[in-house]
Amino acid sequence: MVKNIAVIRGDGIGPEIVDQAIKVLDKVAEVYGHTFNYTDVDMGGCAVDKYGDPLPESELNKCLQSDSVLLGAVGGDKWNSVPGNMRPEKGLLRLRAGMGVYSNNRPAKIWRQLADASPLKKSIVDNGIDFIIVRELIGGIYFGEHKTEGDVATDILVYSEAEIERIGRIGFETAKKRNKKLCSVEKSNVLDSSRLWKKVMHRLASEYPDVELSDMLVDNCAMQIVKNPAQFDVIVTENMFGDILSDEASQITGSIGMIPSSSLGATSCGLYEPIHGSAPDIAGQDMANPIGTILSAAMMLRFSFDMPAEADAIENAVSAYLDDGYRTADIMSDGMKLVGCKQCGELIISNLKKA
Ligand code: IPM
Ligand code: MG
Repeated sequence: MVKNIAVIRGDGIGPEIVDQAIKVLDKVAEVYGHTFNYTDVDMGGCAVDKYGDPLPESELNKCLQSDSVLLGAVGGDKWNSVPGNMRPEKGLLRLRAGMGVYSNNRPAKIWRQLADASPLKKSIVDNGIDFIIVRELIGGIYFGEHKTEGDVATDILVYSEAEIERIGRIGFETAKKRNKKLCSVEKSNVLDSSRLWKKVMHRLASEYPDVELSDMLVDNCAMQIVKNPAQFDVIVTENMFGDILSDEASQITGSIGMIPSSSLGATSCGLYEPIHGSAPDIAGQDMANPIGTILSAAMMLRFSFDMPAEADAIENAVSAYLDDGYRTADIMSDGMKLVGCKQCGELIISNLKKA
C-alpha cells in the first residue's frame, strides 16, 4: 500500500522523537512492502518563528490532504510571552479542530517489564492497569470564548447534545470491544454541561445493553485512578477532564514518555501523537524516550491504515527492546542498560520482524 503521511516535528524534543518513529515506519515499509511518503509540516513555536503563525492555512491543508498526521510535540518557554491566540499550542488546537478529530484515545497500560517504574504500591500494580481514556477533543472550555478585560479573565465551557453523543458513542463502541465497562466522568454536582453529559450518556446506554455504564465525578476519578486503577476499562470524558486525567493515568504506568494517542473524527485521516509535551529541558541531548511516538505510529497503522499485523510488529519490537533491559533515562532503574533516543530507535528497528 502507498500512504502519504504529514509529519509535524514541532518543538523541543519533537524532531528527535519523530525521527525515530519515521525510521521505524521505514523499516515496516521495507518488511511489508509498503510505501510511506512523508510531507513535512511546520506547526507550533517553529512556525511562529518562521511565519508569525503557529499553523498557517497552507500547513493545515497539507495535513488535510494526507492519509494521516504524525506529530511530535509543540511549545516551550521561549513562546510564553506571545499572545494567547498565537501560542504554539493554539496551532495544535487549530489542527485538531481543522481535522475534526473529536475522539482522542489514550491508553493507560502497564508494560510488565516496567511494573517497578510505577509510583504505585506493588499490591495495586499487581491487580493490573489496563484502561483507555476516551477524551472529547474539539469542544468544551478549550474551544469556548477566551477573553481578558482589565483584571477579569473569562473562558467559556460549551457542549451541545450532538457533541456529547458522538463522543459517547465512541466510548460505548470502545468498551464493547474490550471488557464492556464504561465509566462516564463529569462534574454533574456543579456544572450544567456535566448534567447534560450524564443525561446523554444514559440515553445512549439503552442502545448498548451489553455495556455496563457507570458515572463518576471527576475529583473522585482522580482519586480512584491511584487507589484502584484495576476497576477501569474505558473512561469517557470531556476535553479538559480528559487532559488532566490522562496525564495522571500515564504516570501510574511508569512514564508519560511511553504513552501514544490517536485522534479520529468522521474519516480515516487521524492525528497520532505521544501525550507528553516538548520537554525543552532535555531537547537536543539525545535523552528523550521516543516510544510514545513510535507507538503512536503503530496506532496509525492499526486505526487509519488497517494494518494490524504491521502495528503488532512495532509493539512486539518495543516489547523485545524492554525485555532486553534497555531503558531511556525516564524509565531507568538499577541493573538496566541506559540508552539515548537514537539508540532506542535503532534497537527497536533491529527487533522488527513480520508479526
Ligand atoms: C495534550 C496537551 C495539549 C492539550 C496542550 C499542549 C494544548 O496537554 O495533548 O494533552 O491540553 O490538549
Ligand atoms: Mg495534556
